[in-house]
Formats: sequence, C-alpha cells, structure tokens
Amino acid sequence: MVHKIIIDTDPGQDDAIALLLAFASPELEVLGVTCVAGNTRLPAVVRNARIICELAGRRDVNVFVGCDRPMVRDLVTAEHVHGPTGLDGPVWDEPTMPVQDQHAVDWIVETLMGAEDRDITLCPIGPLTNIAMAMVREPRILPKIKQIVSMGGGGTEGGNITPVAEFNVYVDPHAADVVYRSGVPLVVMSLDVTHKALMPRAWIDGVEAIGGNVGEKTAAMLRFYERFDLVRYGEFGGPVHDPAVIAYLLQPELYAGKDVFVQIETGSELTMGMTVVDFWNATKQPPNCTWIQSVDSEGFFAMTLDRLGNLA
Ligand code: BDR
Ligand code: CA
Repeated sequence: MVHKIIIDTDPGQDDAIALLLAFASPELEVLGVTCVAGNTRLPAVVRNARIICELAGRRDVNVFVGCDRPMVRDLVTAEHVHGPTGLDGPVWDEPTMPVQDQHAVDWIVETLMGAEDRDITLCPIGPLTNIAMAMVREPRILPKIKQIVSMGGGGTEGGNITPVAEFNVYVDPHAADVVYRSGVPLVVMSLDVTHKALMPRAWIDGVEAIGGNVGEKTAAMLRFYERFDLVRYGEFGGPVHDPAVIAYLLQPELYAGKDVFVQIETGSELTMGMTVVDFWNATKQPPNCTWIQSVDSEGFFAMTLDRLGNLA
C-alpha cells in the first residue's frame, strides 16, 4: 500500500534522516515538505529542507514555507543541539532548487480539501504550528486526514527541553493542544520510544559505508548530532527521534503502544508543554491518541540503513 504523506519539518539532523528515509521508500508518496520554525529560525529551516531534498536527488519535491513563529508564545530554538545552521556537520553547498510561493498552511488546506476522506497522512516532526493553523483555518480538512503520526512529547521519560516538556510540544504547546483535541487519529512517537532506539556507532559507520555524497554527508551530520548526546546521556549513541515517524509507516510491527488520553499543558510556566498522559485512564476520558511505548531497536536501525542505501 502506498501512503500519501506530507512531512512538516524543521530540519534538524534527525529531521534530515526522516526525510531521507521517506525519499528512499517506494511505499511513501511525499506530496510535499512543509517547513516550520523550530530547531532554528525559518529561513535556515527552509534552506536545510532544500539541502536534504537535493542530497536525496529530489529537486522535484515541492517545499513550502510555513509559520515563522508559534501560535501564541515566542519562538524557542535548539541550536545548542543542531548547531548554528540547524544542520551542522558537513560542509553543504547552497541549495538551488526552488521554494514554492504558496504558504505551507494554504497548501496543506488546499491539498486536503482536494483529497478523498481519510486519504492523506500528516507527518509532523517539528512544532505543530502549521498543522494546527491549517485545522483552525479550515476545519473541513479534518475528515480528509487519514492519520497524524507525530514526533513529540514525553510521558515516562519526562522532557528534554524542560524537566517535563519535549522540545516540539514545548515550542508550540497551543498548537499541540489544537491537534490533540482535533479528533483526528493520532499516533505519537514521544521520547518514551525514541529513547529506546539509541544510535549504535556501528550504524553510523554503516551509513558512511553507503558511500557517495549521501553516505559521507549523512554520517557527518550524525557525528555532529551525536556529540550533544554524548554529553547528555554519557554513553555512545543518542536518540535519533524523527525517523521513528517514517519507520512506523513503513514497518508498524516494529512498534507497540497503548491508546490513551493525553492533554497538553498550556497554563503553567513550570510545566509548559508537558504531555499529560493518562496511562491508567484516571480521567475516564476516551483515548485521543496511540502512545507508542516500545520499539524493536535492532529492526529499526537495520531497516533504516537498508533504506538509506537506496539513495546511494
Ligand atoms: C525533537 O526536537 C528536535 O530538536 C528534533 O528535531 C526532534 O523533532 C526531539 O525532541
Ligand atoms: Ca524535528
């Protein structure tokens, strides 16, 4: 089965791996890449998205510029993780492929309105601003969305930007609130699962061994990205969060989770952006998402390496 997908992203080295994995997979038809401010400011995000499309030999992909700030709060970025450009590691040539004139939110709305019901899967791997803005702008898109598979949040693992908040949800908690209340089928790849697939050194070596520009540049990105995790986690290998979204579409059997009710904290500065997961249904609310809790880590890394090899 071919999944029609829209990747909403703020690259980011782990976003880059997610994009490459999608481009390397014939089961996925990438309708477009929409950019959102997050890991870094929007102009750098758009540059990075185009760099990765070109690295994959996909100058034909339509890249759209989205929201340059969260719905309510000031933008918080993560150059401390991803470097000043958001995509540090290799030396990149400046991308030359075009950027679409239409705003990402308008394009998401137009594309969904032209689709059959439950036709298109949204893959947000940055803050949820563009997705929430599209939902607010045109609620008739909701039945058109097959599912949203999103990277964000943390339950048992807590947070990575504050003690209780994961970066993507923290940056735009109001947008996350809109999405979690939307009623659209939602699968969440949170820190609870991404922290269970830590990049083995041998895997990065394997990526490099793919050879060519893809192998060399991707490995350089990962080695840069990994340095943050070495400091934080005190061991070789850190979580490569965003490709989990794409891997789930390709091989859902690698993952297991639980249907739960999740609320987003938008009121308290102390816990802003926390994903409050009702693991034991204390609220008696119906579930609003599938919260993925486990992954076959070996299977994940084997599959991603195999797929990335398709791009060499
Ligand atoms: C998420 O935050 C970003 O820094 C990564 O790209 C990922 O989407 C992990 O918390
Ligand atoms: Ca991201």
